[in-house]
Amino acid sequence: MEYRVTSLTVEQTRRWGKQLGGCLRGGDVVALLGDLGAGKTAFAQGVGEGLGVTEPMTSPTFTLIHEYITQLKATQVRLVHMDLYRLQRPEEAEVIGVEDAFVEDAICLIEWPEIVEDYLPDDRLEVEIIGSGEQPREIIFRAQHFDWELRLKEMT
Ligand SMILES: Nc1ncnc2c1ncn2[C@@H]1O[C@H](COP(=O)(O)OP(=O)(O)OP(=O)(O)O)[C@@H](O)[C@H]1O
Ligand SMILES: [Mg+2]
Repeated sequence: MEYRVTSLTVEQTRRWGKQLGGCLRGGDVVALLGDLGAGKTAFAQGVGEGLGVTEPMTSPTFTLIHEYITQLKATQVRLVHMDLYRLQRPEEAEVIGVEDAFVEDAICLIEWPEIVEDYLPDDRLEVEIIGSGEQPREIIFRAQHFDWELRLKEMT
């Protein structure tokens, strides 16, 4: 199943992220695909906004993982934002604790998830952003799991 939308500006990409953020819950894993400068971090910032994260979200380029705390329906949830561009080998995923974010009290967003593909849960959502520079972007929401179908239908 796949939904495609267009984004003409960085604000629109953030807004799509915010829309998605509004329908996420603990245990969700979202893989963010796209070239350098596609808008993955901008989208992730929108997701944070949709989840009620009040701290400014910056790119985890060098730190690999940034974590934020938010409340969803009076339950505390961690938003874990990763950028794995600098990972050299899939086994390093274990060292930095990628799988620790695949738990019920966390929502996980992963930029450059390709290297840890074997570790990712099958019920993840993939969001691919196509385009760069000042070009319009195409944002593709893709999932295998039927549960996403309903949630994305409401969102798009
Ligand atoms: N429609 C658009 N959507 C998203 N970003 C856009 C758009 N148009 C222009 N931009 C610009 O593209 C850049 C996207 O940067 P961003 O850091 O979000 O990309 P990224 O995919 O996270 O890159 P990296 O792989 O380096 O982490 C920003 O400078 C933003 O202003
Ligand atoms: Mg980024």
